Amino acid sequence: MILILVPNTRPESPEYRQLLAYLANLPGITTRIHTEIGAEQTLTELYLIGNTKALSTEEISILPCVERVVRISEEYRVLGRHQNDGRSSSFEYNGVLFSQDSLHVFAGLCAVDTIEHVEIMMKALRAEGQVCTRMGAYKPRTSPYSFQGHGKNCLPYVFDLAGKYGIKVIAMEITHEGHLEEIRTALHQTGNATGVMLQIGTRNTQNFELLKIVGRQQTFPVLIKRGFGITLDESLNAAEYLASEGNRKVIFGLRGMKTNMGDPHRNFVDFAHVPVVKRLTRMPVCIDPSHSVGTRADSPDGILDIMHATAQGVIAGANMILVDFHPVPSKALVDGPQALLMKELPQYLEDIQIAREAYLK
Ligand code: E4P
Ligand code: PEP
Repeated sequence: MILILVPNTRPESPEYRQLLAYLANLPGITTRIHTEIGAEQTLTELYLIGNTKALSTEEISILPCVERVVRISEEYRVLGRHQNDGRSSSFEYNGVLFSQDSLHVFAGLCAVDTIEHVEIMMKALRAEGQVCTRMGAYKPRTSPYSFQGHGKNCLPYVFDLAGKYGIKVIAMEITHEGHLEEIRTALHQTGNATGVMLQIGTRNTQNFELLKIVGRQQTFPVLIKRGFGITLDESLNAAEYLASEGNRKVIFGLRGMKTNMGDPHRNFVDFAHVPVVKRLTRMPVCIDPSHSVGTRADSPDGILDIMHATAQGVIAGANMILVDFHPVPSKALVDGPQALLMKELPQYLEDIQIAREAYLK
């Protein structure tokens, strides 16, 4: 059950305290408070957790400060698509609007390697009018001997260059709670207007303690990827961890599934699930054709498999595309074989536009 309070309810007001005291006395029910401070008003919601079936909606709705009560029995309590609960499904971050209707391309480096490559990438994005990118600083690798990313050492120049080229949002994976502070500090020190979308990679989809910590902060939005070897329901519940802790700025990423059946692609492309996720939840949905397909292979029509997969995802209604590019893929320290070439960027963006228009028709 969610109690939506009258806007601008003050935590120190006697009525609010009275409400909390009443809720604290309900047997077997705990209350989690979610507050969103907007430019014009502060909105507070109280989530009642436990067996709320026995509670009367009528009784709760006349308690002080309560504007509305939403009874939610379905799964994905916060992120689920419950009819008529009046909650918005979109959010704005650093001037970029994310919703189930928008589409943003996050083309960039899978892993930051050199400052020169970062600059080439960002310059190319600006030339194409792009304001979002992906930049991997912390890399989760299969082998402990593989390059693990430059970590916090690369953040100052990544953020500086992003500022220089007008990049507003950088998707960046974190694999440990300590990375949050490193990103915060570096952003603060570079002091430009760039923002970061935290990425929870497929290997950490069910790292529940990390999810709780990332969910408790509301500075950064979060892209959480589907776990490559678990059910969709399990991955959606992982996203719900973020939201249940307070962060609703969550995007869900599809990046292909492991089948272990000798597939021609690195993973089995699952972009047909874009509309499924949009039907079940209010999250914008991202596709990652690079990690799904994993190769620059092309079909007899001369079109790259990554482009085909991208178009499939866009036609299915994707809201975000995370895609690897690299100035010299043979020199990339991570995932070079799936990186698109810089000269392919304009055509790639044009093809996305065509697919998007077809989707919108
Ligand atoms: C890159 O984005 C990941 O870190 C990479 O796909 C991990 O895979 P690998 O370590 O098996 O190369
Ligand atoms: C990535 O996007 O850099 C990445 C590691 O992806 P995934 O978690 O999908 O493997």
